[in-house]
Amino acid sequence: MAEVRRVGMLTGGGDAPGLNGVIRAVTTRCAQDYGYEVVGIKRGWKGLLSPEPDSVMDLGVEDVRYILQEGGTILGSSRTNPYKNEGDAEKVVKQMEEFGIDALVAIGGDDTLGVAKRLHDDFGTQVIGCPKTIDNDLSATDTTFGYDTAVTIATDAIDKLRTTAKSHERVVVVEVMGRHAGWITWGAGVASAANVTLIPEVEPDMDAIADLFKQRAERGEKWGLIAVSEGVVLSDDYITQSAERDEFGHVQLGGIGETLAKEVEERTGIETRHVVLGHLQRGGTPTAYDRILSTRYGLRAAEAVKNGEWGSMVALRGSEIVTVSLAEATDETKTVPEDLYEAARTFFG
Ligand code: F6P
Repeated sequence: MAEVRRVGMLTGGGDAPGLNGVIRAVTTRCAQDYGYEVVGIKRGWKGLLSPEPDSVMDLGVEDVRYILQEGGTILGSSRTNPYKNEGDAEKVVKQMEEFGIDALVAIGGDDTLGVAKRLHDDFGTQVIGCPKTIDNDLSATDTTFGYDTAVTIATDAIDKLRTTAKSHERVVVVEVMGRHAGWITWGAGVASAANVTLIPEVEPDMDAIADLFKQRAERGEKWGLIAVSEGVVLSDDYITQSAERDEFGHVQLGGIGETLAKEVEERTGIETRHVVLGHLQRGGTPTAYDRILSTRYGLRAAEAVKNGEWGSMVALRGSEIVTVSLAEATDETKTVPEDLYEAARTFFG
């Protein structure tokens, strides 16, 4: 193992409340307790692939002391994929050398961590992963920071929408983030007692949904709330905002809320509106839970650097923070299991 003097850190993919908590904890432990130099790489893998004058920033304890409460990431982010074009991964490794970075903490979701794994496998890059996603869809960890904040925001939104839905006797469809996994929708649906919660894992039954709202109207409740994941498929494919794909091949989802609202109105005759929560779910200050989890992840990631646990990722298992291999971490998408979905479905009506 090459000696570590300088630790780099980057944040990739969609931002999540809690990223700054990890940055603060890694920096503080590495600089204050282990005596490493710490640098932040700006804009995810882009900062190494297409460096700009500000792509690297020194990080000291004083720089990160008060960032725990701040949403977003002080390092910025991108969806740059160094494995999209041949030769780019080599450029990333070379740039790390030029920046004098001996070890890297990569904070991200399956895309960012997938790149970290390949760099470790292909070039022996000394890398530690830290799981981040509001979507909570990484299988190797019980949960990710950002998820609790996103669920809290979506729950609050649905609670607010209920009062206006009731006043105007409308159904409101609330479109929530989540491509392949409905964790945020499921959590917010349960917590806000939505009348119907729809997730990508379970095919929606439009006849049953229409009947449910008709029955509600018959008993005098001509209003209701539907929480729906952006990745729910109504007919044969995702509803997207544009045909373009990002560097990891993802389409930009969006539109299911509007389509579903039209369908519900047509079938029930009840006025139906839709609201897209979108990036509000990723914005603002992290909840206390996410501040604590991100701090614990960051401290354990720093320890993993010190131990030379290269090619691993920090993860929550029960109440412990452990390390697992990046291979395990990026293996499969964690979806909402049937029995948990039941906790939402039981209260439909
Ligand atoms: O971080 C994942 C996610 O929140 C998905 O649920 C969503 O589809 C995506 O980000 C949208 O991100 P952006 O608009 O920033 O590409």
